[in-house]
Amino acid sequence: MELLSGSLFLLLCVCGVLFLGLGWKGKGGKGRLPPGPTPLPILGNFLQLDPNNMLRSLEKLGEAYGSVFTVYLGLQRVVVLCGYKAVKEALVDQAEDFSGRGQLPSFSKDFNEHGVVFANGDRWRQLRRFSLTTLRNFGMGKRSIEERIQEEAQCLAEEFHKTQGTPFDPTFILSRAVSNIICSIVFGNRFQYDDEKFLTLNNLITERFRVGSLPPSQLYNIFPEIMEKIPGSHHAASKCSQGIIRFIEERIKMQQASLDPSDPHNYIDCFLVKMDQEKNNPASEFCMENLVMTTFNLFFAGTETIGTTLRYGFLTMLKYPQIQEKLHEEIDRVIGRDRIPATEDRNKMPYTEAVLHEIQRFSDILPMSLPHAATKDINFKGYVIPKGSVSAWAKAWPAWSCSSSSPPSCRPSPSSPLCPPARSASHRRPWALGRCPQNTSCQRPGANTDLSLPVLRRKKILVSLSVPLHS
Ligand code: HEM
Repeated sequence: MELLSGSLFLLLCVCGVLFLGLGWKGKGGKGRLPPGPTPLPILGNFLQLDPNNMLRSLEKLGEAYGSVFTVYLGLQRVVVLCGYKAVKEALVDQAEDFSGRGQLPSFSKDFNEHGVVFANGDRWRQLRRFSLTTLRNFGMGKRSIEERIQEEAQCLAEEFHKTQGTPFDPTFILSRAVSNIICSIVFGNRFQYDDEKFLTLNNLITERFRVGSLPPSQLYNIFPEIMEKIPGSHHAASKCSQGIIRFIEERIKMQQASLDPSDPHNYIDCFLVKMDQEKNNPASEFCMENLVMTTFNLFFAGTETIGTTLRYGFLTMLKYPQIQEKLHEEIDRVIGRDRIPATEDRNKMPYTEAVLHEIQRFSDILPMSLPHAATKDINFKGYVIPKGSVSAWAKAWPAWSCSSSSPPSCRPSPSSPLCPPARSASHRRPWALGRCPQNTSCQRPGANTDLSLPVLRRKKILVSLSVPLHS
């Protein structure tokens, strides 16, 4: 027994020395890594991290080590950037150097480095450029994204109207409306809200997000090889992804059969045309796997994000009726009640614009953004961040504190800093508000409903909406 514990101790010491040696010198990097807590062999800094609340764990480390620190997720070394200043200096001022994508195993394994979100290098550049141009040119000279949003917003208003002011949970109606806008852009058509295939697709996306946020998936991000062999909810996540991929593949087949290359109607049509144009180019990234995964990315990145933000918008209006009143005043004054809102109205609505920005900051739905990777050895704030081997999770706290109970400031000019800067400065978030706000007002379902922020953040509240429809 003594011999066994002696050997175990020796083994741990050897592992520790090897690990610390490898870890602190970095894979090829020369210079000082940002400071951080001392890692244990194999476990890294696991004992300092709470898989139930990774964000809070990193915040605590940030308080101890400053705005740039190193932490080990198992064997993976991660440099964390926190605070607006550090995030801006890295992702905006040194954008190219930090533009690589780090992997987030619980999500990225589904994509196998295909598509836009988890790709790197030339693949990322080609697919990103194509996606931006295609989405910008929409609706392909025919129907603009704005028209598609306006159409969907009317359907959404009708759905709200059906509730006739009785309390209801808006979660699924909102995510179906948002998902329909993406369907319209990607597939060229929207679905009825009760279409069975459409419901299945949306349930899979919601479930994929839910399972991906549970502690087993967080553990998967730290110990992917070990967790792969252990049963648990993290395996359900991949099953959801497979379901979404099957849905997309079916749609692509359908569209391939009816494609007129001289008249593409949607994102998939355009991608298929591009695939054909580049079929003799060996460096082309326009292949079937990238089409499937980029489409998956657009659904995944677009649906839950906007749906959740809109839900937070409702919750914020419930909590701050005085702000809702001012919003309505501006909407009534600038748009009136008889026409559909248009993008050009935005310039004349500074209060509404400021509230939208504040809702985005307040809801903070992707507080850790997605991991970035250094594209080369980077000198940053007196430290060296070695190429590739380091992911940077950027967290712009304390731009907005989740625990704050003060209302959104709603300054009359939209000067608030937005959420973490995107991987590229040109990433913009489309807003799907359309017709709804002018005819919709949110009310508390009961005078005694608890609207404290912790309750709001659990998102369990029902709203009742008064939605008069105009012809
Ligand atoms: C409120 C809504 C949204 C929020 C808060 C949001 C947030 C983010 C964040 C934080 C990132 C990571 C940026 C980075 O790497 O630094 C990201 C990337 C991305 N988002 Fe959004 N997003 C939203 C809406 C959308 C929508 C509607 C779409 C598409 C229809 C979309 C497509 C993407 C794509 C493709 C990427 C990857 C970009 C790249 O790697 O170059 N997002 N988003």
